[in-house]
Amino acid sequence: MKGVILAGGLGTRLHPLTKITNKHLLPIYDKPMVYYPIQSLVNAGVTDIMIVTGGKKPGEFLSLIGNGADFGLKHINYTYQRGEGGIAEALDLAEHWAAGEPICVVLGDNLIEKNIAKAVADFRAQGRGAKIMLKEVHDPERFGVAELDGERVVAIEEKPKAPKTNLAVIGIYMYDARVFDVIKTLEPSGRGELEITDVNNWYIKDGSMTYEVLDGWWTDAGTFDSMLRAAQLVAEGGANRMDGA
Ligand code: DAU
Repeated sequence: MKGVILAGGLGTRLHPLTKITNKHLLPIYDKPMVYYPIQSLVNAGVTDIMIVTGGKKPGEFLSLIGNGADFGLKHINYTYQRGEGGIAEALDLAEHWAAGEPICVVLGDNLIEKNIAKAVADFRAQGRGAKIMLKEVHDPERFGVAELDGERVVAIEEKPKAPKTNLAVIGIYMYDARVFDVIKTLEPSGRGELEITDVNNWYIKDGSMTYEVLDGWWTDAGTFDSMLRAAQLVAEGGANRMDGA
């Protein structure tokens, strides 16, 4: 299984902080934001990683992370997304590198408390299809929201005005190699982006989507409020511990 971290986009919701600096290089308590998703993958045993960068000074990712020595890695791969064409567009840039292997995708602004090794192992055992992770939130209208029927996810709505549940789809997704063919069929959404929710709904229709409810806290860090919350959670509890617990 390979890991892909999506750190492209323009981070316009964080202006003026992101006028100069890529969102994922901004600090969350004592580390740059992108450190957390890298550590999430490494802790889960996914060490063959590509980072999709973007913005005005993508070289800063290389200066900061290099070959991943801070994470005990010998090498990290990088690619570059022009503009802000959406999460699925950013993921598509990893196709040649993924080379037919299953992938675990983590959004560069998503932080979690606990190790996702079990979900990764479950997906490996699943063999094909996709897996998403869900978390109960008090503000589901900010996220992709999952509708369940027993043990099955039956639909995901992206930022619904009237959410059917309070189960947010967090920014950790696992896919088989078909994901890149699915992305090629997508049309831009109302916000002009290729949506990861459309990819997930394709796998739901295919009957090959599973889900797990995330243990421990989760937050994004793409708004001022969620960035502050992320810093507080890290300061209080410590996310993605370097000891892999
Ligand atoms: O955080 C989880 C949520 O992330 C999900 O619940 C939603 O279904 C999903 O659409 C996404 O929602 P956001 O609107 O919050 O995503 P945002 O545009 O903030 O992008 C999240 C990360 O994805 C960002 O930190 C970097 C990466 N990204 C995003 C875009 C639009 C890219 O690499 N390239 C892009 O063009």
